[in-house]
Amino acid sequence: MQTVYLTCGLPGCGKSTWAREKAKEDLNVAIVCRDDLRTMFKGVYYYDTVLEPAIVDMAMSVLDILLDRGYDVIVDETNLTKKRRAEILSRIRQWCERKYGQETSVLPVGQLSFRRMPEPAIKVICVEFPEDERHLERRMKENRGYTPEKWTEVVEGMKKTREPVTLDEGFTNIITVRSTDD
Ligand SMILES: Nc1ncnc2c1ncn2[C@@H]1O[C@H](COP(=O)(O)OP(=O)(O)OP(=O)(O)O)[C@@H](O)[C@H]1O
Ligand SMILES: [Mg+2]
Repeated sequence: MQTVYLTCGLPGCGKSTWAREKAKEDLNVAIVCRDDLRTMFKGVYYYDTVLEPAIVDMAMSVLDILLDRGYDVIVDETNLTKKRRAEILSRIRQWCERKYGQETSVLPVGQLSFRRMPEPAIKVICVEFPEDERHLERRMKENRGYTPEKWTEVVEGMKKTREPVTLDEGFTNIITVRSTDD
């Protein structure tokens, strides 16, 4: 069954490393990552508020295209708030409705099934990375042009807005990835 993985974790927690390892070992897995799109325009990481709405649109379109081609997709983002996760889950639901018709039940998307299908239409797995004090330190090694103070400010802000993941948001399953020793 086609599967979408949403990563969820603070900067430096290992989301992209996990995603790349999974995509390397499984040829049917592909990654969508806004950070990679932000890098595309300059060859190095470049955050431009003017381009941000386009980056979001592009990431969602790439998700659709990969699902159309039959890939399992990792949406490699921080995905720390319910709102952000809901936007992606809603996009997946729309894709399912286009592919399988409007016969959807009222179930959350990860448990969605269609009248003629014995199994759920798609699996949506949240891959959660718990907070760890080493993450900020790791992020500093590839600082994307930000000072340590700036990273600390960004990460502290994100910690405040972080909302715990729950199955009723629409996930089929939640898996937890803990940091291994450096
Ligand atoms: N399990 C691990 N053990 C040791 N180091 C790791 C591990 N996972 C990732 N790292 C290192 O930590 C740093 C951050 O990892 P990564 O880029 O995967 O984080 P991220 O969650 O994608 O961060 P961001 O949200 O900023 O994109 C990298 O230098 C990476 O090599
Ligand atoms: Mg990353």
